[in-house]
Amino acid sequence: MTVSLGPKAADPQSAGLQAADPQTAGPSEDPHALAMYDYLHGLFQPPFRYLRDDGVATEDPIERRFEPPERFRDYERRAFEKAAGRTLDIGCGAGKHLWPLQRAGIEAHGIDISPLAVRICRDRGLTDVSVMDAMELDYPGGHFDSILLFSNGLAMGGTPAGVERLLTECHRVSAPGGRILLTNTDVSRTEDPRNIAYQRANRERGDLPGRVRLRSWYRDQVSEEFDWLFMSPEELTAAARATGWRVAEVDGTPWGGYAAVLERLPH
Ligand SMILES: C[S@@+](CC[C@H](N)C(=O)[O-])C[C@H]1O[C@@H](n2cnc3c(N)ncnc32)[C@H](O)[C@@H]1O
Repeated sequence: MTVSLGPKAADPQSAGLQAADPQTAGPSEDPHALAMYDYLHGLFQPPFRYLRDDGVATEDPIERRFEPPERFRDYERRAFEKAAGRTLDIGCGAGKHLWPLQRAGIEAHGIDISPLAVRICRDRGLTDVSVMDAMELDYPGGHFDSILLFSNGLAMGGTPAGVERLLTECHRVSAPGGRILLTNTDVSRTEDPRNIAYQRANRERGDLPGRVRLRSWYRDQVSEEFDWLFMSPEELTAAARATGWRVAEVDGTPWGGYAAVLERLPH
């Protein structure tokens, strides 16, 4: 996958462009990384949004991809501080978690499927960052002590089968005693009637309630539609049990955001 930055990206002359209607916006492979790229270069034009297939658009504050640990949410920081030993950050984005780890001298590797995200990390001075699909990790078995899946990273699995495949791949590259540290969202805590209706329709189709079909949307660009699967702690516990992990800790909030620590079980 290649991402052309094109003349509009990070181009001061394009400042002032408004986000277009997604019906008429041009295609882009990676509006999310483009928003991060613009932010890094001081050219971000809010909003960056996710557009659900029922038409609900949600703004995602892109500055959170760059925030330092002292600004993390409390439950995220408590989980992040457990990272130890050789660490893999899956879907590392702009390097929010990689940056403080490498500065602290921890051997931390980052992977992201987005070449532009990897370029952003390298532009920030990070090393050991690679373009890689989390579903096919190019590392030997037993390599990592800690694996990070922050900012709903596990949701990239898209379906229960996809999440199990991702957890199985994490199990393969984890050392004995290895752990996964993640943050996720229990969407059942919502009070928004549009979300409640969306989740009910999912259940009626036989899907988990937290399955969402999204497109990312920034400026005049929208992505292809992709599946994202938010799991409750109970759904995560079942997926972990099926793939050689044990949910050892859950650190939750009333609005549904939570952190979890998974411990690797021997097969
Ligand atoms: C919500 S962002 C989180 C970024 C970062 N972890 C953070 O906390 O700021 C999810 C990231 O996962 C990446 N991603 C999505 N699917 C992936 C896959 N199959 N393999 C690797 N990375 C993936 C995206 O490109 C994106 O950068």
